[in-house]
Amino acid sequence: MHITMIGGGYVGLVSGACLAAFGADVTVIEHDPTRLDRLKAGEVPIYEPGLEDLIAEQRQAERLTFSGNLAPALQKSRAVFIAVGTPTRRGSGHADLSYVHAAARAIAAHAPDNLLIVTKSTVPVGTGRQVAAIVRQARPELTFHIASNPEFLREGHAITDFMDPDRIIIGLEDISDTTSPARSLLEDLYAPLKEPKSRLLFMGLESAELTKYAANAFLAMKVTFANEMADLCEATGGNITDVTRGMGMDPRISAHFLTPGPGYGGSCFPKDTQALATSARQAGTPTQLIETTIAANEARKRRLAERVLTLAGDNIIHSTIAVLGLTFKAHTDDMRQAPSLTILPLLHEAGATLRVYDPQGMEAARKLLPEGITYAHSPLHAAEDADILLILTEWPEFIPITPAQLAPRMRGTLILDYRQIWQEKTWRDAGFRYHCLGMRH
Ligand code: UGA
Repeated sequence: MHITMIGGGYVGLVSGACLAAFGADVTVIEHDPTRLDRLKAGEVPIYEPGLEDLIAEQRQAERLTFSGNLAPALQKSRAVFIAVGTPTRRGSGHADLSYVHAAARAIAAHAPDNLLIVTKSTVPVGTGRQVAAIVRQARPELTFHIASNPEFLREGHAITDFMDPDRIIIGLEDISDTTSPARSLLEDLYAPLKEPKSRLLFMGLESAELTKYAANAFLAMKVTFANEMADLCEATGGNITDVTRGMGMDPRISAHFLTPGPGYGGSCFPKDTQALATSARQAGTPTQLIETTIAANEARKRRLAERVLTLAGDNIIHSTIAVLGLTFKAHTDDMRQAPSLTILPLLHEAGATLRVYDPQGMEAARKLLPEGITYAHSPLHAAEDADILLILTEWPEFIPITPAQLAPRMRGTLILDYRQIWQEKTWRDAGFRYHCLGMRH
């Protein structure tokens, strides 16, 4: 089966390569000529473990191609997936649907009869029907089908998430039609999954669109809840690790997404919580929990910067702070909405000297962080002459660092571990002032 994937970004590349691995013939359409040239040359413009190898393998098997030309790809396709960006519109919480609408118009111009049009991008409720309306208006005579198939990929784990998903959500225009071409085509496409029947969850278009937002918003809320409990533990003498372990053993709660941190970031939670809150306000049913989650997360990033300044004392303009980790989480080079983008400018403005290190995020960070920051070539290099060491991302390569390695390099002894990657006792025994989240110090 031939399919077209519109968008050579994160979702399009991962989904395209994985569907090719499932046996489909996939053409990924990328409109940016520079990015397209890189893709054609075998370069993968994003860091995602395993993706480069998978793309190379599928291209060699001639199941995956890249093109800038939609018409010929669509002509031989039975399905087209829209996997373009839906960023937050400037000045509002709305998702910017201009790329989705442009894709719908381009599809309408070239679609063969009986094409299935699938929205894979995260789109606000109602978008699937808008796409259908755009196509219907442009080509009233065309027979086509529409579906929503949102993605639940985590950056850093996207390939396993695609190949071994908890569930595949499929929204259809008419859920009562159990033999619709849209349903059977998507069943065929996902047939190579292990136990596909139990994983495919069919529902209406609106429900599928809402499921994606509801899942991300719930997880963002869960992380924010853990962050607030961590603050309460610090104030009252509790220990967040014990509290979340105790909570998480209840299967109704589950232990996942209860690790406190400097605030959630990335390309999804911040954008999707905003978009969901906006859709809900527009629908006349505001989601107070989500609105509060967004505000609490923003405030948290600033508060954790203030904590560094408070602990540094009056001497901040003479202090050097080593920062380990810049990306919004480990295993990605993504700096979008990373807590470091709020925290580091505040420390810089206060007069601190910053020496930072991140295994993947420094190229992007240079364009986003204030001038005058030193980019180190290793964590130990960042720590040289530092008064304070601040951990913002839980990269595995930071975990084995020992007090014996840092003591001779650092000038001071204060460590702020905002990701709980080290053991308090080890550092205290070695003479460091070790602060982590969720316990009293
Ligand atoms: C998230 C969802 O987890 C995916 O299911 C979804 O498909 C994706 O968004 C998307 O919509 O495309 P991702 O943005 O890659 O995936 O990141 P997560 O691993 O979910 O982490 C989000 C943020 O929460 C990060 O800043 C992370 O550091 C933070 N977090 C997560 C915590 O602070 N504590 C936790 O316990 C878990």
